[in-house]
Amino acid sequence: MRLFLTRRLPGDGFARLSQQREIDVDVWEGDFPPPHDALLARVAGAHGLLCLITDRIDAEVLDRAGPQLRAVSQMAVGVDNIDVPACAARGIAVGHTPGVLTETTADLAFALLLAGARRVVEAARYVQEGRWQTWTPLLLAGRDVHGATLGIVGFGAIGQAVTRRATGFGMRVLYWSRTPKPEIAAAVGAEFRPLPTLLEQSDFVSLHVALTPETHHLIDARALARMPPHALLVNTARGPIVDETALIDALRAGRLGGAALDVVETEPISLANPLLQMENVIVLPHIGSAGVATRTRMADIAVANLLAGIRGEPLLHAFSLPPAR
Ligand code: NAP
Ligand code: GLV
Repeated sequence: MRLFLTRRLPGDGFARLSQQREIDVDVWEGDFPPPHDALLARVAGAHGLLCLITDRIDAEVLDRAGPQLRAVSQMAVGVDNIDVPACAARGIAVGHTPGVLTETTADLAFALLLAGARRVVEAARYVQEGRWQTWTPLLLAGRDVHGATLGIVGFGAIGQAVTRRATGFGMRVLYWSRTPKPEIAAAVGAEFRPLPTLLEQSDFVSLHVALTPETHHLIDARALARMPPHALLVNTARGPIVDETALIDALRAGRLGGAALDVVETEPISLANPLLQMENVIVLPHIGSAGVATRTRMADIAVANLLAGIRGEPLLHAFSLPPAR
């Protein structure tokens, strides 16, 4: 059987795959993702495909692979780059890596919240630029996190993990999720609010929904207009959940306090993007789950999913489409 991996992996996953006698492993050796044409060429004849969020796995890729393709295994929890219905229609299993990255990603979301609230990046830049001359009462003064209200949008694994951090910091937590989860919310100390109310009542809003057609631009101009002008938007989910043009407009007009973003609509971000010129905006290069141990575990799970999938066995973590509502 033939496997195609779109990137080298951390850990010993590749070695484990290569030891399997019945398997021929082809790895894209570049540091950048394979261009779509190269992906189409290399996937042809594969029984299994291991991919990253930077690879667009659409019907064309699946068709080019051929009818023997049994598994698409993503080294990430989000699978918005994969045409999951097209996989389902062809009987191809889709694997992903939930759970193992929850706490690491929640750590980064909370780091962004703290950094945005207390202007940490701006303050460090201020020192590096030699602008620190004296102590003044309101020099780089930010907003308190303790006692503030945090709105969690999407109360899945990461949304809940951020909630646990927030209550530890003395925050009040509101949450909105497609499916209200009263027992879990009670256990972690969060209160449900409809999304418009959550946006109006929160000093900080942190996004944790998956990117789907329903959540694309969930935070649009109308949603942003509901947020108080001092509020900070944190996004560690996916860039297209926020209408970036509307976000830039709101920030320029002083209708929003700031944004702390691990993800943006187009990645990597263009240096010409106005967000990069704003003092009250932090942009990170999509590093939410980037702990060495976490990334290594994600690779191990992706390899295990791939092996199970090509053998027709149940995946450790299969992504399945939700039932139609
Ligand atoms: P999860 O436990 O599956 O939670 C997903 C959340 O998305 C749930 O709240 C779910 O709502 C919501 N959701 C899914 N489809 C929806 C829809 N159609 N409409 C409204 N809400 C919908 O996943 P997770 O582990 O917390 O991860 C959440 C997201 O974070 C991932 O999908 C990924 O995009 C992103 N992520 C980013 C990084 C990073 O490096 N920045 C790292 C890890 C994850 P219900 O609660 O109602 O099901
Ligand atoms: C990273 O963005 C993930 O979805 O795991």
